[in-house]
Amino acid sequence: MPMTTAVLRTLALVGAVAGVLGLATTAHAAGETVTPPNQNWSWEGPFGTYDRAAAQRGFLVYKQVCSSCHSMEQLDYRHLTGIGFSEAEVSALAAGFLVVDGPDENGDMFRRPALPSDGFTNPYENEQMARLANNGSLPPDLSVIAKAREYGADYLYALLIGYEDPPEGVELRAGMHYNRYFSGGQIAMPSMIVDGGVEYIDGTEPFVNQQAWDVTTFMMWAAEPHMDRRKEMGVMVIGFLAVFAVLMWLVKRRVWSDTH
Ligand code: HEC
Repeated sequence: MPMTTAVLRTLALVGAVAGVLGLATTAHAAGETVTPPNQNWSWEGPFGTYDRAAAQRGFLVYKQVCSSCHSMEQLDYRHLTGIGFSEAEVSALAAGFLVVDGPDENGDMFRRPALPSDGFTNPYENEQMARLANNGSLPPDLSVIAKAREYGADYLYALLIGYEDPPEGVELRAGMHYNRYFSGGQIAMPSMIVDGGVEYIDGTEPFVNQQAWDVTTFMMWAAEPHMDRRKEMGVMVIGFLAVFAVLMWLVKRRVWSDTH
């Protein structure tokens, strides 16, 4: 009876699909990681560039909030001219951090204000200290985190604003916080950004979303500082090729103008 077989097959297929969908919903309820919403970032697209004002504000957020736990080892303070800070501003910003230097003539290490040529300071002397201060978890270096994580900036932004109460049935481990964008749903980093937690000098309102947006822009720039220049080069090359193509077409017309 081919007809019945076909019906049975269809029913089995529908059953399987329903089963998979059912599983997916249960997994979600149990605190499975969620795909972050897609955001419109200034640097996206072939002509997109970094929003420098946002990146500058983002550095301030990093400085005032994140730098107490996270290093950014691949950055020197002088690199900050890349997001539009002047050299004088960079000197002043660097001087707000203390770096270990030495030894002095007595053989002692000492702390001094950082110079533009210094690397970003590390909040902890070593990994053990970092873990000790963070309930056993290690705050990762943020230099290239925007490139290292799937969904990049979309993920970082969603993570930073994604703290909420755990859904029913989810038992938080000691010292953990619920965030459905973090793999497994439980993260050792508390929600660190609060409304008005930093003061912006350009008049932008420091809402949580704004700070998260700005610091994400900053982390993206840190992970790929030369993207703007690369895109500029691309546009120049395309422009050059276009002009060159027109010239060659004119030359060709000229050369063949007597031939009919
Ligand atoms: C009090 C210390 C502390 C502060 C301040 C802090 N973090 Fe974290 N952060 C952590 C710890 C600890 C982890 C590791 C979490 C884990 O593995 O569960 C972490 C992890 C992260 C991660 C990695 C998430 C992943 O996918 O692995 C990012 C990104 C991050 N923090 C960004 C920030 C930003 C941006 C700020 C500033 C707005 C900030 N953090 C402030 C402690 C901190």
